[in-house]
Amino acid sequence: MRVLVTGGAGFIGSHIVTALTAHGHEPVVLDALLPAAHPAPPPLPDARWIHADVRDRGAVAAALRGVDAVCHQAAMVGLGKDFADAPDYVGCNDLGTAVLLAAMAERGVRTLVLAGSMVVYGEGRYDCPRHGWVRPGPRAEADLRAGRFEPPCPECGTPLAAGLVGEDAPADPRNVYATTKLAQEHLAAAWARSVGGRAVSLRYHNVYGPGMPRDTPYAGVASFFRSALARGEAPTVFEDGGQRRDFIHVRDVAEANVAALEAAADGADAAPVGALTAYNTGSDEPHTVGEMAAALAEAHGGPAPVVTGDYRLGDVRHITASSRRIRERLGWRATVPFAEGMTEFARAPQRAAGLRPDPVP
Ligand SMILES: NC(=O)c1ccc[n+]([C@@H]2O[C@H](COP(=O)([O-])OP(=O)(O)OC[C@H]3O[C@@H](n4cnc5c(N)ncnc54)[C@H](O)[C@@H]3O)[C@@H](O)[C@H]2O)c1
Ligand SMILES: [Zn+2]
Repeated sequence: MRVLVTGGAGFIGSHIVTALTAHGHEPVVLDALLPAAHPAPPPLPDARWIHADVRDRGAVAAALRGVDAVCHQAAMVGLGKDFADAPDYVGCNDLGTAVLLAAMAERGVRTLVLAGSMVVYGEGRYDCPRHGWVRPGPRAEADLRAGRFEPPCPECGTPLAAGLVGEDAPADPRNVYATTKLAQEHLAAAWARSVGGRAVSLRYHNVYGPGMPRDTPYAGVASFFRSALARGEAPTVFEDGGQRRDFIHVRDVAEANVAALEAAADGADAAPVGALTAYNTGSDEPHTVGEMAAALAEAHGGPAPVVTGDYRLGDVRHITASSRRIRERLGWRATVPFAEGMTEFARAPQRAAGLRPDPVP
């Protein structure tokens, strides 16, 4: 297959390019090299590539020539600095997706795999012993300040048990980025209905691994911890370190994209025509942020993490989802164990700011 990978110069996109090539496909990259993602120019993708913005309809239409499927990774990621970033997020992520889908409609490309995100769920799944499945709202600042990090039952205030969210859980995007990721799915679903396309959204969990951007306001927490360790400083862990997440290695995410592209292009039931099918894409092995910091510190040879009790308003306490659907329908599962992946990530050589490591085979 010839596959257009938007955002193919980015962290996840560059691993997808490597994986597609390894599976005998032909990736074509379209990337605008956003300065926020690339403070310095990245190594050029090992593929034909086009320096353009997904909002540029002419460039996208040209890039789609001879393409069988699109793997849409291009997006502005992270929480941004403040609400003033909202037009940029909506522009890149939603206008960009609309322009891409319109060009695909015109060019007759009917297969799409979208980089979804678990941020569409808001908080994770919680069960109250009395009220069953409940959905706590955003945590109050007074509670966070007092160190009450676990959201209580909204009905009775009882402590809750955290569980795994399934794909059919109601969406609850809590910030601009999450809103744009959810809108991307709705746009893709509307496109699939309208043109008879097949769309898959892989709702990634916390992706980490070689090539992860570091020290930008957009980088993930694993990246901050690693940078602190590289400076000889202790990683600082917010709240009490008990926040549960699902850390998924970037090579596993790249393989999930290949599996989804192949299934959708083959007309498999896993990607029915005229619809968007969402798949949680995680390791199914939740760990706390404190455990991650400890694993990185140990592999690096110290210093040990420090738990600060600080917090950020809007952070969710626990967000872990079940990835059973993707295992059952796409036959994909995560293969990189947590300890091994974190050790590799902790020990991989540091790169000059903004430079990405060469794609890992
Ligand atoms: N990293 C994670 O943990 C994570 C989790 C869930 C979802 N995602 C999604 O995965 C995708 C890839 O994220 P990443 O972590 O590799 O981020 P990244 O910033 O490393 O890569 C994104 C790439 O898209 C490009 N891009 C952004 N806007 C563009 C535009 N308008 N036109 C053309 N190119 C554009 C950037 O230049 C960059 O190379 C995104 O859609 C993101 O929402 C990432
Ligand atoms: Zn209750």
